[in-house]
Amino acid sequence: MTRAAVIAGVGGHVPARVVTNDELAQRLDTSDAWIRSRTGIAQRHVVEPGVTTSDLAAEAGRRALKNAGHDTADLVIVATTSPDRPCPATAPTVAAKLGLGEVPAYDIAAVCSGFLYALQAGAAAVLAGHAERVLVIGAEAFSTLLSPTDRTTAVIFGDGAGALLLRAGTADEPGAVHHVHLASDGTMADLITVRGGGAEERSSGLPVREEDRYFRMEGKSVFFAAVRRMAQSSLTALSRTGWDTAQVDRLVGHQANTRILHAVAEQLGLPAERAVINIDQVGNTSAASIPLALAHGMATGELRTDDRVLLTAFGGGATWGAATVTWPDLPPS
Ligand code: UT7
Repeated sequence: MTRAAVIAGVGGHVPARVVTNDELAQRLDTSDAWIRSRTGIAQRHVVEPGVTTSDLAAEAGRRALKNAGHDTADLVIVATTSPDRPCPATAPTVAAKLGLGEVPAYDIAAVCSGFLYALQAGAAAVLAGHAERVLVIGAEAFSTLLSPTDRTTAVIFGDGAGALLLRAGTADEPGAVHHVHLASDGTMADLITVRGGGAEERSSGLPVREEDRYFRMEGKSVFFAAVRRMAQSSLTALSRTGWDTAQVDRLVGHQANTRILHAVAEQLGLPAERAVINIDQVGNTSAASIPLALAHGMATGELRTDDRVLLTAFGGGATWGAATVTWPDLPPS
């Protein structure tokens, strides 16, 4: 049988503090009704001062290891847009917090598509025999990137982390990762960006502009690009896996906007009910979004052993992608 990376454990973690739409409406010109109707979001979780992305990532990783019945991994990949520091990467800190010893550990920066990029890298490492067990984590303290006065972003994003443990197995096993399709178009870099803090700003010799410290998004343009690219990429991943769209049991898309998820389902010809949705509870958690939605779907029973699951995301870069997996047989996380 064809070798494949197989999902051996799933874990999700969000910080305890909940920020409701009404709480945001007290300090911004927005309303619960606008946020719910335009995005599907009812609340998001936000880190307390002093809590960082590596804290969230380590907890999600710990839960994925526990779910798999293991206490070690020999490679850690962290997808994040909100690393603890610009330098060094966050993954080594996560590996240290998990007590994994001197394992290789690195970050992937592909914004909201980051988890799919990390999944492909982790699966490839397993298939190449470079690692026995890989922790693939998406983690964000995204609230730390947001301008407190920008209503176009402050209402959308939230903090959290999700993780999968991958092991070597075969493509006929529940949990197999079948195909990951990835793409990018750097001409769209300005649509989703934190302009400052990098070499571009430092080499400009110009003083730092306050607004460049924060995350910015051209929501409307991103919306249409996201629907088109997620649908296209999904069709590519499905055809390379040999699945018909009708065979997809669950669509687990990047939780950017309920309207986007429903539009992608519609373009694929899937009933809206096949989409797993937890954006109402956690908001858009960028790289953490897909693994948190997977942990949610497992907890609610929406994801069942052997289900054919389609994952898809679009994010800054621009980057996008889609993956096909069959759902594993795991105890509740
Ligand atoms: O995670 C990476 C990928 N991200 C995405 O895929 C996000 C894609 N984009 C979106 O989800 C949507 O574009 C948003 C949710 C960000 C915005 O929704 P929209 O329906 O595209 O709204 P809009 O930007 O066209 O704004 C409509 C109106 C505007 O007012 P006018 O010009 O019609 O008077 C905005 O100023 O809503 C206004 N507006 C708000 N009103 C209340 C924008 N933000 C808010 C707000 N509260 N928070």
